[in-house]
Amino acid sequence: MRILVVGGGGREHAICWALKKSPKVTELYCAPGNGGIASVAECVPIQVNQFEEIAQFAIDHTIDLVVIGPDDPLSEGIVDHLEAKGLTVFGPRQNAAIIEGSKVFTKQLLRKYNIPTAAYESFERYEDAVAYLRRQQAPIVIKADGLAAGKGVVVAQTLDEAEKALHDIMVAKVFGESGNQVVIEEFLTGQEMSILSFVDGETVCPMVPAQDHKAVYDNDKGPNTGGMGTYSPLPHIPQAVIDESIETIIKPTAKAMVAEGRPFRGVLFAGLMLTPNGPKTIEFNARFGDPETQVVLPRLKTDLLDIFLAAVNGRLDQMEIEWSEEAAVCVILASEGYPASYPKGLPIEGLEDVQDSIVFHAGTAIKDGGVVTNGGRVLGVTALGRDIAEARAKAYADADRIRFQGKHNRTDIAKKALV
Ligand code: AMP
Ligand code: GLY
Repeated sequence: MRILVVGGGGREHAICWALKKSPKVTELYCAPGNGGIASVAECVPIQVNQFEEIAQFAIDHTIDLVVIGPDDPLSEGIVDHLEAKGLTVFGPRQNAAIIEGSKVFTKQLLRKYNIPTAAYESFERYEDAVAYLRRQQAPIVIKADGLAAGKGVVVAQTLDEAEKALHDIMVAKVFGESGNQVVIEEFLTGQEMSILSFVDGETVCPMVPAQDHKAVYDNDKGPNTGGMGTYSPLPHIPQAVIDESIETIIKPTAKAMVAEGRPFRGVLFAGLMLTPNGPKTIEFNARFGDPETQVVLPRLKTDLLDIFLAAVNGRLDQMEIEWSEEAAVCVILASEGYPASYPKGLPIEGLEDVQDSIVFHAGTAIKDGGVVTNGGRVLGVTALGRDIAEARAKAYADADRIRFQGKHNRTDIAKKALV
């Protein structure tokens, strides 16, 4: 089969890496791909927002399945666009991708169907939001309604900070139209957990859980990033809590989307907080997580293409998905300055010295035959091991073998799982 993956980050490298193992895959393309994806797939210079060009490429190359990686094109309706051209696509349609694209939509859905989440109110008018906020207590959470490259959430420690966030989002419009509405939400405490599931209507096949590290520095200090490292499984979280999350949050949400006439087909990513009062929803994403995918897919034993095909053919309920007992740890190597501005084009050395890890490229390019940095998150070094301690030791040993000017990584990825 001829497959096209849309996207160009570490997530898409992991998807291509997993698809490449399928004996059914004869041709694998990635648009636009990156310097590492080029070693497993043919990279095509088409950007993820060029729907017309993507459709034309897929038709010209008789692509059997298009797989969509990132959130922006999903929210903008890439699946509907490609399906209208007769293509088969793995990913949610626009009316289901709204579960990530609008926080107000999702909070209303969760409230309507009694699915556990933080208490909240939503606002369209800045004056109303401020008046409500002044009657609340800190800490409190402010969320822009729409997509904001992962930056639209402010966990405010004081009401002043919260009011500034409201002003930035609703008046200064730092996230543009995404700030037309805002959610003000109760602050939840507990461990965070990500559960990604393959979903086809009401059928939910959960993947193994993972935990991300969002802050740029050790001990969760510094600004939020797209994610600085992940691990799976989560040995310190009881299976009963994972099961409860699936039964009380993920399955009811898939069912609710069907009831709303918005059946979800693709990967539904639940960001959960394990509070003293049980698991609660922080957010849903309409796609694989990045860098969750870089630890989840290496543990997948079933052919990923078979799962995608089952989902697009409405046969996911017949799939038996198998996972490895091994643990996986992914350490992100970032550019100096990320998540603010950072240099690009710096040579990366030591990739050939890596011994025990898979190196997923997040932001790299090929220049003069060598690999150079080309993004804020540059590489994700994933190792497997008998347990987290072993996987972690291997991933860090290999992370240290890779060099580029200003390289930054957290040194405490998966540390929580060791105690
Ligand atoms: P999100 O962009 O929705 O993933 O939110 C970013 C991060 O903000 C999450 O990973 C949490 O750490 C934090 N967060 C979001 N909502 C809440 C909440 N209601 N209570 C506490 N922390 C939150
Ligand atoms: N790692 C978080 C995300 O993909 O949204």
